Amino acid sequence: MLAGPDHDEAARQGFVGNLRRYVMSDISEGNRTIYERRVRPQFQREHGRAPKDRHEVRRAMEPHPYYQAWGSILRTTQELMWDSVGESVARQLPTLMARAKAFADRPRLGSLRLDRALAIPRYQSAVDIHVMPGSYHSDLAQGDVFAGALYDRGLYLYAMGGLGPCNEDIGAGGCAYLKKHFPDFAPKRILDLGCTIGNSTLAYAQAYPEAEVFGVDLGAASLRYAHARAESLGVAAHFSQQNAERTDFEECSFDLVVSAVLLHETSMAALPRIIQECRRLLRAGGIMCHTDVPQVEGDAFDLFIPDWDTEGNNEPFMSKMRDLDFRQLFEAAGFRRRSFFSGYVPNEHLNAKRPVTFRGGSGKKGKPWAVYGAIAG
Ligand SMILES: C[S@@+](CC[C@H](N)C(=O)[O-])C[C@H]1O[C@@H](n2cnc3c(N)ncnc32)[C@H](O)[C@@H]1O
Repeated sequence: MLAGPDHDEAARQGFVGNLRRYVMSDISEGNRTIYERRVRPQFQREHGRAPKDRHEVRRAMEPHPYYQAWGSILRTTQELMWDSVGESVARQLPTLMARAKAFADRPRLGSLRLDRALAIPRYQSAVDIHVMPGSYHSDLAQGDVFAGALYDRGLYLYAMGGLGPCNEDIGAGGCAYLKKHFPDFAPKRILDLGCTIGNSTLAYAQAYPEAEVFGVDLGAASLRYAHARAESLGVAAHFSQQNAERTDFEECSFDLVVSAVLLHETSMAALPRIIQECRRLLRAGGIMCHTDVPQVEGDAFDLFIPDWDTEGNNEPFMSKMRDLDFRQLFEAAGFRRRSFFSGYVPNEHLNAKRPVTFRGGSGKKGKPWAVYGAIAG
């Protein structure tokens, strides 16, 4: 199902990928130099102390032309990335839609269930998340797969290949964490919330081949693509268009409920409802495991850089998520406080050769993902 590039598209995508790598490494590093040599000393002179947190660092850095130029180039790179992938997907769209339709008409392994009446929450429709044109939910024509195909190739470029050949590393990291910390856990039914095109859904299906695996998302075009992609990759998964805040699955019907980078793209109002839904769906002893961006750790400057995504890359909830008390959130949803767990997940591809980070300049090289989880009592 992947929308491969032709010669010129490959050249443009290659350019954008390399530009991104350059901005995220050489140019990004300059922010620290500016901060240490100019911005912090000036702040110190004015306030008699260093900036106390990442928010103060941001306010001090924002007027600086270097930071502004870096952010501007990074934003432009992101727009170019979607442009370069979008033209390639648009060119192949009729073929991709026909393939998806064929898989939907004659599914061999999994299933696809769409709900035309599903309301898209405003926290998803109000902005194009991470500048992706039309975001995840746009459904432009009958049988559309544009959003899914765009995300597939776009994510690969965005991560500079750092998520592995099938963009699977976030989910695979969650699986590795579970296998390490819960080696005897053998889930029979797994649900992936906010599955988009199934990158992580398939990682869970492959890690737990005995399990029946489900994925839900809001976006019909993403899900059509997800289903066709899973079928074409030979992995069984059942996709449905649902709001993770309240699904139509029966209570206590899952052993494992997961998500991969859903939480930071969900509003602070929706998040408690999603966690409550996880609790409702889990049987006693079942595990909830969310893989997402790490929370705050490091010095004020390290913490400030990833916050760029919040405004610069249309990630409105990213910064707030970093301050969340997950233990409290999970407890409020009915999980026992002592069942809470969190930690970093291993990442196979990102650290392998070139330890560049791919979000808005995270200072925490080698710790790109964290898990936040709890066990249903
Ligand atoms: C960053 S993407 C997830 C990527 C995917 N899990 C992966 O591993 O590649 C976030 C997804 O969450 C979905 N989403 C956001 N809020 C949701 C909700 N309330 N219910 C279902 N899906 C939601 C979006 O439509 C989007 O596809």
